[in-house]
Amino acid sequence: MADSAAPASVLVVDDEEPIRNALKKFLAQQQYEVYAAASGEEALNQLRRHKVALMLCDIRMPGTSGVDLVPQALEIEPELAILMLTAVNDATSAAMCMQRGAMDYLTKPIELADLGRAVERALKRRGMLLESRELNRWLKEEVTTRTAELHRERQKLERVSVATLEALVNALEAKDPYMRGHSARVADLSATIAAQLGMPDEEVEHVRVGGRLHDLGKIGTRESVLNKQGPLTPEEFEHVQQHVVIGSQILPPLPHLEHILAMVRSHHERWDGTGYPDGLRGQEIPIGGRIIGTAEVYDALSSSRPYQEKMSPDQTIERMTDLAGTVLDPKVYEAIAAVVARRRTLVFLDEGGGGTSE
Ligand SMILES: [Fe+2]
Repeated sequence: MADSAAPASVLVVDDEEPIRNALKKFLAQQQYEVYAAASGEEALNQLRRHKVALMLCDIRMPGTSGVDLVPQALEIEPELAILMLTAVNDATSAAMCMQRGAMDYLTKPIELADLGRAVERALKRRGMLLESRELNRWLKEEVTTRTAELHRERQKLERVSVATLEALVNALEAKDPYMRGHSARVADLSATIAAQLGMPDEEVEHVRVGGRLHDLGKIGTRESVLNKQGPLTPEEFEHVQQHVVIGSQILPPLPHLEHILAMVRSHHERWDGTGYPDGLRGQEIPIGGRIIGTAEVYDALSSSRPYQEKMSPDQTIERMTDLAGTVLDPKVYEAIAAVVARRRTLVFLDEGGGGTSE
């Protein structure tokens, strides 16, 4: 018996009553649950009514022949194992039934012992097919679950690697009281400018990460130059400029930060093409680089430096007007002006006025 839980059910389809009864009797003796049908139409009705594992089917019958019955039966019960009963001289019809989905055929006259073995074989094969189908379904589910898990793990690792780089930037800035919090402020302002420009949420977040990491390359800047209070010599200035190149060399092993790379490299380019390191001009400069560059100028002017008094947000925006169209993208300048004006209103409503840039 192929099914260990319940007796497998077999449907005998033959238009000749004596044969049908003999088959029915033999199979019942073998402990199968047996249904019988005298025609193709009756067989289809039985299949609609009962869950049948195997159909033993004569080929030559009046009305629907066995050849035509095979596909119709499989449509009702796709997991049905079908054994054909064929006359000695009808190999062509038997082959056609196999093509249409029958599993095997027996040639009349049938030895009952052969029939018993054939039925058992067919049911066993059906059982294996069902098992492998179930296994495939399970595997598919497992792959989907594991893929989702891997995706979540990867996102977690990506977040950790960004957090690690941010910690490096914080450590770098902590050495210089004037630089403390610079990247965090630039990141927030840059993201707000990007949103003001109507960029999609995902790109706004990329700009935020770009802002956090834009000065990462200063890891490669000599401390004596980094912390120098007075004006830089031309050699020192050239050395500091290298931070954009170094930054863009640190990031490539982290493929999920690919979209940040161009921003890091281009945040000191100028709208008129006189910036560094590549002398890009206008729209050639990646938009993220233009935004971060603008936010950085704002932060430099509005925070205290050893050589400069801290400017108010309004003074800073006023001062930056001259830079629009030379250093800064005029559209980005307009956006930062709008952002700062809005912040001032919000702070006014919130606290009754005061500084807002930090
Ligand atoms: Fe920079």
